[in-house]
This record gives sequence, structure tokens and C-alpha cells, in this order.
Amino acid sequence: MGLKMSRLNKIFICRYFKNLNQAIVFNKKTDSYSLINGIGALIVYSFLKGNSKNKIEKNIISLAYKKKIIISHKFIVDNIKLIINWLNAESILFVDKEQIMKSQSNKNEKLFNAKQILDSKKIRRLYAGEKLPMSAFIEVSSMCNFQCIHCYNKIPSKKSKTSEDLSLNEIIEILNWLKEKKCLRVTISGGEPLIRKDFLNIIKMAIDRNFAVVVFTNGYLLNKALIKHLESLGVYKLEISVLGANEKTYKEICGVTASEHIKTLLPILSKTNMRIRIKTPVLAMNYRQIPAMEKLCASYGLRYTYDITQMRKGLYRNMNQNVFCSLSQIDWLINKVGRESLQQEEDIRGPNSANCYSGAYSFAIDAKGNVFPCATLRYGSQNIRNKSIDEIWGSDEIRMHHNIKVDDLKTCNICSIKNYCKMCPGAALLANGNLYTPDEYQCGIMKLIYKDKL
Ligand SMILES: C[S@@+](CC[C@H](N)C(=O)[O-])C[C@H]1O[C@@H](n2cnc3c(N)ncnc32)[C@H](O)[C@@H]1O
Ligand code: SF4
Ligand code: SF4
Repeated sequence: MGLKMSRLNKIFICRYFKNLNQAIVFNKKTDSYSLINGIGALIVYSFLKGNSKNKIEKNIISLAYKKKIIISHKFIVDNIKLIINWLNAESILFVDKEQIMKSQSNKNEKLFNAKQILDSKKIRRLYAGEKLPMSAFIEVSSMCNFQCIHCYNKIPSKKSKTSEDLSLNEIIEILNWLKEKKCLRVTISGGEPLIRKDFLNIIKMAIDRNFAVVVFTNGYLLNKALIKHLESLGVYKLEISVLGANEKTYKEICGVTASEHIKTLLPILSKTNMRIRIKTPVLAMNYRQIPAMEKLCASYGLRYTYDITQMRKGLYRNMNQNVFCSLSQIDWLINKVGRESLQQEEDIRGPNSANCYSGAYSFAIDAKGNVFPCATLRYGSQNIRNKSIDEIWGSDEIRMHHNIKVDDLKTCNICSIKNYCKMCPGAALLANGNLYTPDEYQCGIMKLIYKDKL
């Protein structure tokens, strides 16, 4: 299938989901990914360690015994035979062995960790080298049940027509293409994706194609039954935007009271097997509430993050600038949460290196079918309704910004923190209409976060 001799074939991509439930292997013969469950994953792991068939049998039986998994001896032996035959038939890609072995060295870690695979720079480089999309961001709805004052998307009023949004068939076509291109992760966003009547169909279609499916939502339509359903379908991760700690803040930011509802979801979310991220856009109305929200999520063992670098210019609309924190408010928050918690490791980019690789191994499609390098960096006018997605992905336009090197950026070339700063070209484009002048607001925030390194 065109990829036979590619470097991608030399790796064994193992996406692993929580609690050793499923490993993903790539089958050369059928040219597709397959998911195998807990015991199967352990067999693959044991095989990777170079163990003989007998040793694998022994290992798995003793593991099943230790973990009190009720399973017949015959079932284990048959499965081992099946999987080993499969592995020996060279139908499997051998992987990022190093990465897996590394995660094994720490006994407390899960055997195969999807996050490690999905976040692996090595895998990203590999996909970029093959010009394959490792990850795709799809906005399935332009509509939303909130009207957030900070939202970079222009949310149409409830009366507007949604008929122009991607249809289920169009989404399936995108998913089929992504599968053909070995995509690993699909993020479903919007607007608010949960307001689509066929939302669950979309999720099912994506999971059937073995992607690690991430859902971005404001959480308003989530409830216990739906969370359980998403979990049973096999959703990999839910990212829920939480706008504030009380109803007054919610009302001010999105026009709806949802704070109490979200609080009732936290204990349910803490028990699910899906990965969960609760996140807050830092705004003038909620920045003082961040430490309390962090504490509340921690009390449920839930991961919490906040996004300090908001884009103050909308994509299709003017925004009230008072909504966003002033730099002194941001400074208050940085001092409150501790500068180190916001700092990232130095990432030394050579003078010839671009500062953003969206479009190299990932891309975004909006609800009208427009394709961009990422949800933030929206340039170009390519649309899947008048050009094939394959052609768009193969075009130079989607990678145009890779020609811009770090040292081409005005003021950044002589900046002492340029190796720490993310310098989002999408924010630059929104703020100044060009990719060469960094967004003054993000620049100011970066200088506060890395004050000690200036
Ligand atoms: C557009 S929303 C769509 C998904 C869902 N409705 C939600 O709110 O999570 C996706 C993400 O974009 C973020 N976002 C919206 N406006 C933004 C802005 N001006 N700057 C940075 N992030 C923004 C939201 O906070 C959210 O995390
Ligand atoms: S909930 Fe999400 S999509 Fe809706 S208005 Fe808010 S940020 Fe935008
Ligand atoms: S802090 Fe400002 S000047 Fe320095 S690298 Fe970042 S955007 Fe450029």
C-alpha cells in the first residue's frame, strides 16, 4: 500500500490505554491496526522481551493468577499460540521498542502507555518524515450551547442554519482517509460537539477505526449515563472546559449557569477509565479562582490545567479586550501558582529550525470543511468540499509556515528566552495579520513566566 518500504513499517506502534486493557499493533498484511486486550498485550510484551513460547505461557499464567483474572489455561495457551503465530508471520510492526522498554524499567508505570506513544517526539518525527497525519483535530459543530465571551470561534446564533456543517458521511470520509494514513489520534471538537444529534455515531465511527479518540467539550450535556457510555465505547480522553468556580462567573463568561452541574460530574469523572483533563481558560473574571479550582480537582485526583495564553483577537469577530487578564493580573497568578509550574524545559532550536510543526504530523478541519495546519493557525483557503483531502494534505500550503525560521521572527531572534517560548504563529497571525511579528500579549506573558531567565 505504498508504505511497504517506509520507515514507519519498522516500528511497532503500541498505543496503550489505561489499566493494561488494550495494546494496538499494526498488521502489515491487512495494512491496519488491531486492538488486543489485556492478556494479549501482556503476550506481546513478553514476546518483545525475547521470551520463548513456554516462558510466555508461564509468565501469563502466573500473572493471570496474581491479578486474580479468572481465565482458563486453554484460553491462555490458545491465545498465545495465535498471537505468536501472528507475530512470527511478520504481520506486526516492531516498534518503538526502546520507548516501551523504558516504561518497563519503572515498575510503577503501566506496561504500555498510550500517552507516551502519542506524546513521543520520535513518533511525531516519524510521521512528519513520512508526511502522514499522526493526529487530526475535527470541529464537528460550528454551533454551541454557550456563548463564551473569549471564544475565538464565532458561534452562530441558535436560529442560524447548521446545514452547512460537515455531514456524518463527510466525517466518515475524513475518518476513512485518516485510517488509510495510519492516524493515531482524532480530536473531536467544535463549537460544542455534544450538541450534534449524531455525536455518538461520530464517536463510534472513529473508535471503530481504532483511533485514540479525544473529545473537547464544555461539559454541559455530560451526565453519568453519557460518561459511562463514552467509556464503554472506548473514548481515550475527555477534555472539559471549566470556566469558573461559581455560577456568577459562568454567567459572565458564557451566559449559562453550569458550575454546579460540572461539580456534580467531578466524582463521576474521577472513577472513569478514560483519561480526563479539566481545563480553564484564564480570564479577568476567573483568574483568582484558578488555585481553588486546582485544589478541587486535585481532591478528586483529576488532572487540571489552565491556559494562560488566550488569544485576544477572534477568528471572525472582534472581542472585548477587558475579558482578558492584564499582564499584572497574570503576574499575580504566576506568583500564586509558582513560576516553575508554568515553565517548560529549554528546547534548543537551531537558527534554521521552524518554530511550529503543525501541518507536519497534524492538522485541523473546521465544521465547514476548511483545512488548516492547526485549530489556532488558520491560514489558507483549502476545503474538502472542493479539493480532495489527500491533495490538501499533500499541498505545500499547509506547511508554508515551516519556511519561517525562529530567527526570522522580529524581536525573537535576539530574545534570551526564545528556546523556552512557544511563539505561536497562529496567535501572531490573529494579532498582527502576519506570521513574522509575535503576538504582543503572548510575548508579554512569556516574559513574565521566564522572568528569571531574561
Ligand atoms: C473552541 S472550544 C470547543 C470545544 C468546547 N466547546 C470547549 O469549550 O471546550 C476548544 C478550546 O478552545 C479554547 N478557546 C476558546 N477561545 C479561545 C481563545 N480566545 N484563546 C485560547 N483558547 C481559546 C476553549 O477554552 C477550549 O478549550
Ligand atoms: S463552549 Fe467552547 S465552543 Fe462554545 S463558546 Fe465556549 S469556548 Fe466556544
Ligand atoms: S518572549 Fe517574545 S520576543 Fe522572546 S521569543 Fe517569545 S515572542 Fe519572541
